[in-house]
Amino acid sequence: MSTSILSAAPSLATAIGSVQLDSPLLNASGAFWPETSSQLFALKSCMGGVVSKTLTQHAQAGNAQQRTVELPSVGMLNSIGLQGKGLAHFLNVDLPALVSHEVPVVVSLSAGTAEAFVAMVEACQPHAAYITALELNLSCPNVKAGGADAGSSPEWVANVVRQVKANTHLPCWAKLTPNVTSMLPLAEAALNAGADGLVAINTVLGSHVDVRRKTLSLSRTFGGYSGPGLKPIALYQCLKLAQAFPNVPLVGVGGISTLDDVLEFLMVGCSAVQVGTASFKEPLLFPKLKQGLLAYLQQEGLSSIKPLIACALP
Ligand SMILES: Cc1cc2nc3c(=O)[nH]c(=O)nc-3n(C[C@H](O)[C@H](O)[C@H](O)COP(=O)(O)O)c2cc1C
Repeated sequence: MSTSILSAAPSLATAIGSVQLDSPLLNASGAFWPETSSQLFALKSCMGGVVSKTLTQHAQAGNAQQRTVELPSVGMLNSIGLQGKGLAHFLNVDLPALVSHEVPVVVSLSAGTAEAFVAMVEACQPHAAYITALELNLSCPNVKAGGADAGSSPEWVANVVRQVKANTHLPCWAKLTPNVTSMLPLAEAALNAGADGLVAINTVLGSHVDVRRKTLSLSRTFGGYSGPGLKPIALYQCLKLAQAFPNVPLVGVGGISTLDDVLEFLMVGCSAVQVGTASFKEPLLFPKLKQGLLAYLQQEGLSSIKPLIACALP
């Protein structure tokens, strides 16, 4: 028998603190439709977990149209504004559907105050057995209350994380805004308050003019920029976070669309990555990235992704 038949397939397993995942590949919140994707590939076999669209306590319609702009070859702007049916609908309808795919579920939450976050966390508690982690979205640029403006304050971030952590045993990841001079004070505040991991980055503020109509394209005048052009910015922020907080679980997100992008984020210290905008364009991106990662490990003679994590840090 040849050696390749004898040697076991490499493992993609990773950990975000206490959370063990079979793969470092997750979706970015709000930029993935599990119901559609699950018809194309088995979520369980290609993804380490599924992150919900950010949930708000009650149903909300989001911002007025127009709220997306495609920016050919570099990405998109969105100002959707956390449209959704509310937390109760998610917990009673969407969560059981996700759980049926046997994939870890990360629940993303947003609220205007720490107290409102706590109310949402309390509502999650009876369903805690089906929730792998909470992702606190402290960084949405498209909502007035509890979005990126509030999330630019280390004090606000610390207060939300502290109060959430006091009310749940679920692991809590803090998703932070890059729309600040430095993300480090936000990260420090989240970690000192008990965050179990950091997710970086949310979208970067951007605008667009419809030159034919001579108006701003987005009803809110600005939105969040995502997609391939975001990658060097997101990678820089992850690098800075990994250097400042070497042992802190870090999930990298922003502009990832290729195997090399995934590898870059792992090599600067991320233990997992999230893929958003690119999967709109390429619905089979997750199976492709998984296969690519396995083939890369085999070529490199590696049995797991662990030696890659932070290997490029100076
Ligand atoms: C249409 C759209 C909706 C989004 N909705 C959310 C959301 O609900 N919660 C959140 O934390 N981030 C949201 N994001 C931001 C993504 O999760 C991610 O941080 C960002 O898009 C960068 O990753 P990408 O370049 O791979 O898309 C959204 C992004 C897009 C494009």
